[in-house]
Amino acid sequence: MLVLGIECTAHTFGIGIVDCKNKKVLFNEKNQYKDDTGGGMELRKLSEFHTSNFTTILLKAKQFLKTLNKDFSDLDLISFSQGPGIGNSLKIGSLVAKTLSTQYNIPLVGVNHIKAHLEIGKMLTGFKDPMFLYVSGVNTQIIAKDDFGKYKIYGETEDIGLGNLFDSFARLAGLGFPGGPVVEQLAADSKQNYIELPYSLKGMNITLAGMYTNLKQKLESGKYELGDLCYSLQETCFAVSMEVCERAMAYTNKKEMLIVGGVAASKRLTFMAKEMCKLRGAKYDSFPMQYAMDNGAMIAWQGFVDKKKATTDITKFPIAQYINIESEI
Ligand code: ATP
Ligand code: FE2
Repeated sequence: MLVLGIECTAHTFGIGIVDCKNKKVLFNEKNQYKDDTGGGMELRKLSEFHTSNFTTILLKAKQFLKTLNKDFSDLDLISFSQGPGIGNSLKIGSLVAKTLSTQYNIPLVGVNHIKAHLEIGKMLTGFKDPMFLYVSGVNTQIIAKDDFGKYKIYGETEDIGLGNLFDSFARLAGLGFPGGPVVEQLAADSKQNYIELPYSLKGMNITLAGMYTNLKQKLESGKYELGDLCYSLQETCFAVSMEVCERAMAYTNKKEMLIVGGVAASKRLTFMAKEMCKLRGAKYDSFPMQYAMDNGAMIAWQGFVDKKKATTDITKFPIAQYINIESEI
């Protein structure tokens, strides 16, 4: 079954083509909007970027299909990110998917972007029922299926996401964007003197904004080495995240763990996760970063998972900006 997936929830416009029966990603290309102001994304520029650039990826997909002696009309299903995300982006992904579906009379399905992040991890690792740590710029959530087979959030950040914490601190320290990789490098090169930072757990939830404020004060005091601050930032925010993961695994009795989202690139975080799983007799696995970040292949695969909902009635699947992992979609 040949499924084409379109991702456009925020900065990335991606198309993936997956041979779902054989669980093989055949094509996965994307364009990413980069804001050079260092602030958030300017919505008008974001829409302009996607509307002017999606054709490049679409034509690459067409050329790829040609190498298989196929065309869009040979697809079995078209899938797109229905939400959550930024309205301006979601509308463009939806428009492209609905146009393709109508033009070639291919069934369409709208999918939940977060479920797609999780399901591609299961597909690539062969894990059946893992505890997920979903850590991107905006999101920090600990998710797994409950006894009824529905995804449930077991713990999350009550304010900023892990990635944003790294990015905000890096911006403050003049380290540029994205912050995660450069903070990781400075921490690895430092003397690794641990400086105590707020370790904020509220039941199964965490808060990270206080850690940012504390780091800001310490940085501005000029009393600490930048490398040591980077090291302490990593140690503290990853430890607090691991503590919630471990508690959730103990509570649910899950025996597998995966990390999805851009922060999965952190070697220190994955090391801690591996150690924690080893101590619990659980399995930890990872998969290539191109599938842990926003991409079209994960949307194609999720379309396959949700194929029962597919229809050629394109009035279905309105964009859904504010859904979460526990939503029906
Ligand atoms: P969202 O998907 O929630 O809208 P996003 O698209 O910004 O957020 P991703 O693209 O999944 O998130 O991940 C980017 C984030 O990952 C950035 O905040 C970046 O700093 C962080 N990151 C990347 N590498 C590392 C690392 N080695 N250590 C920590 N954080 C990292
Ligand atoms: Fe995402």
